[in-house]
Amino acid sequence: MRIVNENLCNNEISIVIGKGALSALEELKDKKVALFYSQKIDPSRVKIHLKNFIEIPIIDGEEAKEIQYALKLVKLLFENDFDRGDYVIALGGGTVTDVVGFVASIYMRGINLINIPTTLLGMVDAAIGGKTGVNFENVKNVLGTFYQPAMIISDLEFLETLPIEELKKGLAEVIKYGLVLDKDLYDYLAMNKEKIFTKDESALEEIIYKSSVDKLSVVKADERETKSIRIVLNFGHTIGHAIEAGSNFTVPHGYAISVGMVCEAKMAEEVGYAEEGVVEDVTWILSQYELPLTVDSLNVKIDVKRAIDAITKDKKVRGGYVMMPFPTRIGDWKRVDVPIETLKGFAEQCLR
Ligand SMILES: NC(=O)c1ccc[n+]([C@@H]2O[C@H](COP(=O)([O-])OP(=O)(O)OC[C@H]3O[C@@H](n4cnc5c(N)ncnc54)[C@H](O)[C@@H]3O)[C@@H](O)[C@H]2O)c1
Repeated sequence: MRIVNENLCNNEISIVIGKGALSALEELKDKKVALFYSQKIDPSRVKIHLKNFIEIPIIDGEEAKEIQYALKLVKLLFENDFDRGDYVIALGGGTVTDVVGFVASIYMRGINLINIPTTLLGMVDAAIGGKTGVNFENVKNVLGTFYQPAMIISDLEFLETLPIEELKKGLAEVIKYGLVLDKDLYDYLAMNKEKIFTKDESALEEIIYKSSVDKLSVVKADERETKSIRIVLNFGHTIGHAIEAGSNFTVPHGYAISVGMVCEAKMAEEVGYAEEGVVEDVTWILSQYELPLTVDSLNVKIDVKRAIDAITKDKKVRGGYVMMPFPTRIGDWKRVDVPIETLKGFAEQCLR
């Protein structure tokens, strides 16, 4: 089991990773807790660590991330007399930690939050870093807050039931960390595919640990995305979001960013920021993990106009430029301000 303790903007945060990580909940024995859990997850292993709690099964998936649904969860806290000294637990995938995190952040201006992610994507990304979000008018994450959980518990036993396709979507984000932040992680992924695909415990613990430390260090340096550092986490995401939008969100996020990373690495190489060979390394590692490399392999019709429109509306556009993190060599990156018209041209090439 690994424990990472960090102080983020005066918040003490612990990440506990490994089999048996749920034992960290012992410190909540005398606390009042609202346990929100995905209906698809058996909460009994969490409940045995709690005494004074209410349990609230909730839906998961993007339908859970609607403001009206979030307000229903707020009502449950209110009706049960929760106050700021009490605790909320979010048990589920990234959609659950996003909506419950949002609820925890707005309830009485913030109630203690503990994330227990149950997908790989949740463990390495969504549950860490303090971004919460709900969708609005069919647009993802329009409403959201920055709100740090006190603890993130990544208990590997939850991954036993996770379908391999869901594992792969999380692996796309793990690979991203390797490509732009962490050569050791890249090397580890290159050597341990079989172990990871067969859910070997020590291999999963290693990649979740390395990814968590990578994400936390970026968030620590730029919690609110004001210093152009946190944008590194967006590698593959500018084109990836365009693919998601152009497919009317039928392409899963992990697959969209996989293709996005290939396109953006090609851009970085073409404009001279990436060392020769980076694109090969990017495509090789993604193909090892059976992730898509091209739009064609997604087998979905992409509405290119809609995809390009999404780029124009990207949150990272400033004065006609888009801030993009380009890989320079494996494990390293550079911020480049790309003229929006240049980006659109590259995107069109990639998406057709
Ligand atoms: N806040 C952030 O920083 C951040 C970062 C990345 C992604 N996200 C958000 O995360 C969401 C995606 O997260 P996700 O991929 O975990 O999706 P998800 O929550 O929809 O879970 C994916 C699927 O896996 C199932 N599932 C969950 N845990 C399981 C388990 N242990 N065994 C079997 N099935 C299980 C769920 O029921 C669901 O069908 C998106 O809404 C995205 O916007 C947020």
